[in-house]
Amino acid sequence: RVYVFALDVGVDRLVAARVGLGGTILDRRETVRRRGPFSLEEVAGPLAGFVRQMHRKTRPDTVCVGAAAAFSGGVARQDGVVRFGPNMGSVDVPFGEEMSRRLGLGLPVAVGNDANLAAMAEHLRGVGAGCRDLVYLHGDVGVGGGVIVNGTLLGGHQGFGGEVGHMVVNPDGRPCGCGSHGCLEAEVGERALLEAAGRFGPQVGRDAVRAVVAAADRGDIVAQAALNRVGDWLGLGVANLVNVFNPEMVVFGGMLREIYLGSAAQVRSRLTVDALGPAREHLRLRTSALGDDATLVGAAELAFTQVLADPLEV
Ligand code: BGC
Ligand code: NA
Ligand code: ZN
Repeated sequence: RVYVFALDVGVDRLVAARVGLGGTILDRRETVRRRGPFSLEEVAGPLAGFVRQMHRKTRPDTVCVGAAAAFSGGVARQDGVVRFGPNMGSVDVPFGEEMSRRLGLGLPVAVGNDANLAAMAEHLRGVGAGCRDLVYLHGDVGVGGGVIVNGTLLGGHQGFGGEVGHMVVNPDGRPCGCGSHGCLEAEVGERALLEAAGRFGPQVGRDAVRAVVAAADRGDIVAQAALNRVGDWLGLGVANLVNVFNPEMVVFGGMLREIYLGSAAQVRSRLTVDALGPAREHLRLRTSALGDDATLVGAAELAFTQVLADPLEV
């Protein structure tokens, strides 16, 4: 009866879950957070509170064997320190250490990139099960990705591999939180879609994105034009990824799930032009099976992996 705690530190929400073997979510707590720069206190405080609440409710014959957090930003492989977070406004945060101290469970807290962990989850237990070469695209406030090559997550030299959201698709394009222009994130992210639809305002977030897709479905031409535009950039990003990695499957997760569903024709027509024929013909485009839980399930997987790699003394 073992379980781990999985944490998801997003730009606009914090989620904590208790997860059992096989990625079963047993309990979860969630809160919205103010966007922008964060202090460790305002992120680690609520998450530690959630973990304590869930821990108190567990049966005495169960045991917590690990904890891990997913973070919207680049996490260095070497020391697990968060080195950048284009929408988080904070760098060089020893997040794992701080969480571990606050949880008081006597367990280390591993930290990974949110999209990398979600990619792992989809590859192990989701729509990509059995796929050796897969590209996962994750849309939240930012756009992230995870690239699975020959069954293994591509980490890169320092652990920052797979930052597909900062692949430049439009050099003269919109400014990105990373400091560049025309990154995939800047052209297909939440803000780009809402602005193109004339709906950028206080009502941002996933519901606002869903409202644009629903309006387009009902025939709203402004919403349709916005989705077409975003779908075109998304298709270009996917075409570049297909040409570099020749994946068997591309998975759209988070908000990109809705955006892709609303712009699939545009994405496909861009692929027809820009992706190499043979690589495109055998490609499957899919939406995430684990949905909003992909990141948590991936973080839980990381926590369990730590346990296996470094068995607890009994
Ligand atoms: C960050 C990624 C993250 C993505 C989704 C991007 O801005 O650079 O590290 O995976 O947002 O949260
Ligand atoms: Na990534
Ligand atoms: Zn960028």
